[in-house]
Amino acid sequence: DAAVKDGFDTFMDKEIHDQPKAVADTLLGRHDDDGDLVLDELRVDESVLRTVDKIIVVACGTAAYAGHVAKYAVEHWCRIPVEVELAHEFRYRDPVVNVRTLVVAISQSGETMDTIMAIRHAREQGAKVLAIVNTHGSTIARESDAVLYTHAGPEVAVASTKAFLAQITACYLVGLYLSQLRGYKYVDEVAGYLDELGKLPAKIQDILDREGEIKAVAEAMKDTSSVLFLGRHVGYPVALEGALKLKELAYIHAEGFAAGELKHGPIALIEPGQPVFVVVPTPRRPTLHNKVVSNIQEIRARGARTFVIAEEGDEAVTEYADVVFRVPQTPTLMMPLVTVVPLQIFACALAGAKGLDVDQPRNLAKSVTVE
Ligand code: G6P
Repeated sequence: DAAVKDGFDTFMDKEIHDQPKAVADTLLGRHDDDGDLVLDELRVDESVLRTVDKIIVVACGTAAYAGHVAKYAVEHWCRIPVEVELAHEFRYRDPVVNVRTLVVAISQSGETMDTIMAIRHAREQGAKVLAIVNTHGSTIARESDAVLYTHAGPEVAVASTKAFLAQITACYLVGLYLSQLRGYKYVDEVAGYLDELGKLPAKIQDILDREGEIKAVAEAMKDTSSVLFLGRHVGYPVALEGALKLKELAYIHAEGFAAGELKHGPIALIEPGQPVFVVVPTPRRPTLHNKVVSNIQEIRARGARTFVIAEEGDEAVTEYADVVFRVPQTPTLMMPLVTVVPLQIFACALAGAKGLDVDQPRNLAKSVTVE
């Protein structure tokens, strides 16, 4: 057992540490030396991909949050509207889907029944379905028009970690490929973005090397009953995923919010001592950054304990943070692949401190094969 876990105590811990490799392996062999993407495995006619006028991502749980992250990048790079929908909601609401719709199904297992039913429905309406799946030969892979495999390796712990990073990476490859294929204005920057993706494994490793900082914080919080997570732009789905990890692993009530929504309701939840994690955008995007810094100020003024995930060198946050966890400097669209890592470590360490089984949380299944 210890051998399978590579010397880690739990699969979750191992899989969190597998993440630099999961991202690197998902990128491997998918571009040529000139920085052009080569995704021959897609097997959808290029003429079809050129006429796509809408993308709908269908997925459940963590995979849906990967789609939520990808929406920001794919719309920016391709100028194609992207909707992200929970597969079980999509299937039963008579969605507008036709031959010009590309449905992207994201799934670690490839066996989630809700997602299978969604792709069946999409294909009946004439849409092409592209699967982003981690498990070879799985039902979703077989029933889709094309598959781009994530190469995260087997994920054993019930709550998803490395598959999430690999799913975002794979979605980004698809987005950059579509941009390249359709000749959009960002096509010249594809090589630059690929280069930035290639730098992520080392950045993730840097965070893992400093995991002790976040573990110490988690261990001191084992009696906490509620934690809030805030993020803006791509930091928003990261906040949602941070909250989901804490619910799944540590059975703590947790909610993620878009930081801009704070004043429209959630700020009423802030009382003295309430722990709030804030995912801060890079200061190199001041329009996003300044707004999130004011959000931290607002909740701090109402007594919240603020746990801030911010870039190295971002000094504007220090004054309002009870705890700062630093991540390496990263372009905005790539930030989720680094900022989510401390949140995973936090949830895993907090659950461990409570003596819970992080690999097999109560009531959950790795693959939900019923609707
Ligand atoms: C289950 C798991 C989650 C996972 C979700 C989607 O609920 O507990 O960790 O995110 O299914 O699974 P999939 O295999 O489709 O990615």
